[in-house]
Amino acid sequence: MSAPGYSIVTLANGVRSVRSHAEAETFHPVVGPVAEAEALYVRQLRLRERLAAHAGEFVIWDVGLGAAANALTVLRATSDLPCRVRLISFDHTLEPLRFALQHGEQLGYFGGYEQLVATLLAEGRATQKVGQQCVAWDVCVADFPTWLRDAAPEVPAPHAILFDAFSPAKNPEMWTLPLFTSLFRRLDPARPCAMPTYSRATLLRVTWLLAGFYVGVGHATGEKDETTLAANTLALLDEPLDRKWLDRARRSTSAEPLHEPKYRQAPLTAETWVRLQAHPQFA
Ligand SMILES: C[S@@+](CC[C@H](N)C(=O)[O-])C[C@H]1O[C@@H](n2cnc3c(N)ncnc32)[C@H](O)[C@@H]1O
Repeated sequence: MSAPGYSIVTLANGVRSVRSHAEAETFHPVVGPVAEAEALYVRQLRLRERLAAHAGEFVIWDVGLGAAANALTVLRATSDLPCRVRLISFDHTLEPLRFALQHGEQLGYFGGYEQLVATLLAEGRATQKVGQQCVAWDVCVADFPTWLRDAAPEVPAPHAILFDAFSPAKNPEMWTLPLFTSLFRRLDPARPCAMPTYSRATLLRVTWLLAGFYVGVGHATGEKDETTLAANTLALLDEPLDRKWLDRARRSTSAEPLHEPKYRQAPLTAETWVRLQAHPQFA
């Protein structure tokens, strides 16, 4: 089986990653898949601490499964904890994962998870018990914005979301205000949930605020000096965006959310500015 749309590339630091030719994008292009996932998701979400303190199933949505570096790094980083992880991955194609599994040795992060991933690819669902960690992993192969809009609500609300689409310029349908408004509505207000992503763009931060999230400055990852962390409770943010940020957003030439799946840059409209100032984060 071959997937000619993808190749393995060696990054400047010697680490290997997957490149999509159709999108002309390399996954985790600077520090590599595992280092980025550890910084952006495992440490920033304080996943080990949250899981250790959590009773029952901890639900993670993995949006943009791709070659599963984020998902597998999260599973490996918590594999010594007594916990139940329900991982729900989303992607409109399983080709990058098929390709990555075939090149698992080169990529280096599949070790011990090959069978789990093979079952996921074959059946759309896989389970595994490692030590005291129980994993139940489902994959939903669909256009994510369409799924969010139309799908029945049987998928449990997340405690954490790994949001890893391509950039807004390449992948605008994954960064629109209607998408994040639907996503926010899917959260359970009684279930604290945090969502990091690699971007620090003003446009993205305004979009998440307008969708209903609280939004904060996210950790540096080695790849980016600053990222973004959103949550449905301020308690999960260390550094919420403040009024100084709001003033900068007002002057930015690229701050207005994408209202449709078409990339463009524009300053805030008068209506968005009014809504932003009324957000409880800035009250
Ligand atoms: C940057 S890659 C993800 C890398 C991945 N998280 C990893 O750790 O290997 C972005 C992924 O988003 C998926 N994607 C892009 N647009 C999508 C859409 N409309 N619906 C679902 N998935 C989409 C792509 O197929 C791609 O696998």
